[in-house]
Amino acid sequence: MTVIGTIDLKKRFKIPGQKPIEVLRGVDFSAMAGEKVAIVGRSGAGKSTLLNILGGLERPSSGTVTRPKNIGFVFQRYHLMPELTVLENVLLPSMAKSQRFFGSRRRRAEELLERVGLADRADHLPSELSGGEMQRVALARAIVTDPEVVLADEPTGNLDAMTGAEILKMLADLSAGSSNALIMVTHSPEAAAICDRVLMLEDGLLKAKT
Ligand SMILES: Nc1ncnc2c1ncn2[C@@H]1O[C@H](COP(=O)(O)OP(=O)(O)O)[C@@H](O)[C@H]1O
Ligand SMILES: [Mg+2]
Repeated sequence: MTVIGTIDLKKRFKIPGQKPIEVLRGVDFSAMAGEKVAIVGRSGAGKSTLLNILGGLERPSSGTVTRPKNIGFVFQRYHLMPELTVLENVLLPSMAKSQRFFGSRRRRAEELLERVGLADRADHLPSELSGGEMQRVALARAIVTDPEVVLADEPTGNLDAMTGAEILKMLADLSAGSSNALIMVTHSPEAAAICDRVLMLEDGLLKAKT
């Protein structure tokens, strides 16, 4: 079953006084439930644009996007809320919903912090954590609501090789025990290796990587 996909997706950026940039020229993409897909391509190829459109953070110029309601995000620069504690950051996606079941959501967030090895940092602020620790918080936040799809934009791009490898292992372990699809933009061959499929974004089109 397809959980997320696009048909003939196009994205053009118009900057006044300049020739429009055609970033996506007709992307057909689909991922199945539970599937792990890596997207590679040179800087500026449009990978973030594609991921943002998949996640509903940006609008396409034309084409169709099908996506589930519940999506988790992991960004290169973590994007934690600086004034919230680690636990509050993980809880944030489930706060949007009603206040019912708050206790069980809190337990779920605490259990995820345990799984990413940060149970003892629950009351810390992001500024008190290392980059790798912040990204572990972001991983927990991405899956706290059990999303059908997790979108990750260069999740190890800001980290040294060893810390990046740790994050990938965690991402793989967390995904192994769940049915969410993972769509990951990455430059790292190790990241691509934990995926079922590697696609390359080139000249505005998504191609199977040979
Ligand atoms: N809001 C924007 N306005 C104009 N151009 C943009 C905007 N966002 C991205 N671009 C351009 O689109 C191209 C693709 O960007 P991006 O998706 O960030 O690439 P990647 O993530 O593969 O490095 C780049 O040339 C970038 O400059
Ligand atoms: Mg990018």
